[in-house]
Amino acid sequence: MCGIVGYIGTVSAKGLLVEGLKRLEYRGYDSAGIAVMGDKGIDIERAVGRVANLEGKLEGRKGFGGSLGIAHTRWATHGAVTETNCHPHTDNAGKICLVHNGIIENYAAIRTWLGKRGHTFNSETDTEALACLVAELYDGDLEAAGNAALKEVTGAYAIAVISTEEPDVLVCARKGGPLMVGVGSGEYVVASDPSAIVAHTNRAFALDDYNVVRLTRDSIRTSTIHNKDVTPKVMMLEAQLEEIELGGFDHYMQKEIFEQPRALRTTLRGRIDRDEGRIVLGGLLNNAKELVRARKLIMTGQGTALHAGMIGEYLFEDFAKIPTEVEYASEFRYRNPIVEEGTVVCAISQSGETADTLAALDEAKDKGALALGIVNSVGSTISRSTDAGVYLRVGPEIGVASTKAFTGQVAVLTMMSLFLGRRRLMSVEKCKQMIGELEGVPDKIELVLQQADQIKAVTEKHIEKENWLFMGRGVNYPTALEGALKLKEISYIHAEGMPAAEMKHGPIALITDGLPAVFIANQGAQYTKVLANIAEVRARGGHVIAVATEGDAEIKDHADDILWVPEIAEPLSPLLTVVPLQLMAYYAALLRGHDVDKPRNLAKSVTVE
Ligand code: G6P
Repeated sequence: MCGIVGYIGTVSAKGLLVEGLKRLEYRGYDSAGIAVMGDKGIDIERAVGRVANLEGKLEGRKGFGGSLGIAHTRWATHGAVTETNCHPHTDNAGKICLVHNGIIENYAAIRTWLGKRGHTFNSETDTEALACLVAELYDGDLEAAGNAALKEVTGAYAIAVISTEEPDVLVCARKGGPLMVGVGSGEYVVASDPSAIVAHTNRAFALDDYNVVRLTRDSIRTSTIHNKDVTPKVMMLEAQLEEIELGGFDHYMQKEIFEQPRALRTTLRGRIDRDEGRIVLGGLLNNAKELVRARKLIMTGQGTALHAGMIGEYLFEDFAKIPTEVEYASEFRYRNPIVEEGTVVCAISQSGETADTLAALDEAKDKGALALGIVNSVGSTISRSTDAGVYLRVGPEIGVASTKAFTGQVAVLTMMSLFLGRRRLMSVEKCKQMIGELEGVPDKIELVLQQADQIKAVTEKHIEKENWLFMGRGVNYPTALEGALKLKEISYIHAEGMPAAEMKHGPIALITDGLPAVFIANQGAQYTKVLANIAEVRARGGHVIAVATEGDAEIKDHADDILWVPEIAEPLSPLLTVVPLQLMAYYAALLRGHDVDKPRNLAKSVTVE
């Protein structure tokens, strides 16, 4: 979603801000803009489309030499994708200049109020109303005007604001939308996420809700919007520059699919005690007793994270024998859910910033649940809002279509269910067996990745087809949902995922000659049932692509194309069966000529509800 970059320091802000915007491109956006403080006012440029368009427009422009500036990538919410609606926005006099992420819910009332005071508006945005409100309340102190304005607004925001009246001050604030401050020497870089900061400094802190930071070149003050001092917790950013660069790959999604073996080795490292048949998760130890006594688990998240949670449901019920439910965070938060004693709510999120997931977690905490987080992004809002949790450690995920975060989430859920399973009913032998299987996963994914060319060839056969079905049973039903989601996200092919047996209850009507039907048909308890579902599809002319276990001779008589995965214990099989589906989606998007890492309309991190 929208991205903010701000800079105050000693070097020219322009290049640094544009570079920062490029680092935030992966979040998803449709236009971009920049404002740099100059000697004779603020230089502003905006462009629809890519940051490269903005860069092109800047080439021919004078000015932009200052060392204080703010910049923005916009993902339209209020008003169409036009240059006028692009941020930064100013008040009528050009005195206040502001960028904003999130939604100001009461902006219409603010506009009406400001209109009566003589303000006029060029854009349809809520942001312009906020810039005018800061100007209206300005009385010689930008921070005070910002605070006064933010007290009037409802909704979620992260803002960065500058003023011609105080040309050496940058003020930023947040409620809901993420914002980090990178602390350099004599300079500060503000950004929506660490990827725009790590090139400059590894020292940073995240603003908390209702916090404001006032930055000059040689001072920093953090407070609440009610003017109470706050001591920021500066941390070392773990992401290295090479982790957020392509490093020889064509796309981030491709890089992230192929780095899954390495990423998962890091996820597992130090967390497995093979000799004792135990899982060691430091982030859960303080709450281990409460967890062991849990009566119910609720997994929540959105998108891919929810699919991982659905797999978690099978794992927790199988290994730990804890009744488990899964629910979209967006539904949970408004459903008035019943949270009884002994309920543990587990929020799953790659970014740790998804607005609905965060709200569901808050709802659960308010109702007395123990809050767990399975998060990738260290220091993110969700990771700071939970009682306990486990980081994925798969490194920054830049590709909008989530891949390595999914396998990381499933690996963490597997470890968590074994962690609890061993403390409840699971035998040492069974736990040791599953640990051995889990440790073997990275090598086995490598074997799947070696078949990339073959997977591409199978995808190519069906590339003209506009409708695909994905089916699986048991623990691979969520894998089917994930396969369908991957395909539609980046190739824009319509795809539906479902439990294989559900097909007969409606989707079977869609089967026509040559319709690609992807079945997860690995060896497992329901293998013969899946074969029966395959037969139903073939009888109606569907073209069956099976994800099957190496060495399975029988499947050859049932499927038109086969993508092989190594043998693995069934509960862990999604960690392998999802990989060919990720590659199919990647190649489908490539073959159709789409921009894999910047799919239309999608955002990597959805920070509005
Ligand atoms: C967006 C992304 C998805 C992701 C979902 C949840 O829709 O495009 O890839 O699965 O948000 O994101 P989270 O960061 O909470 O895992």
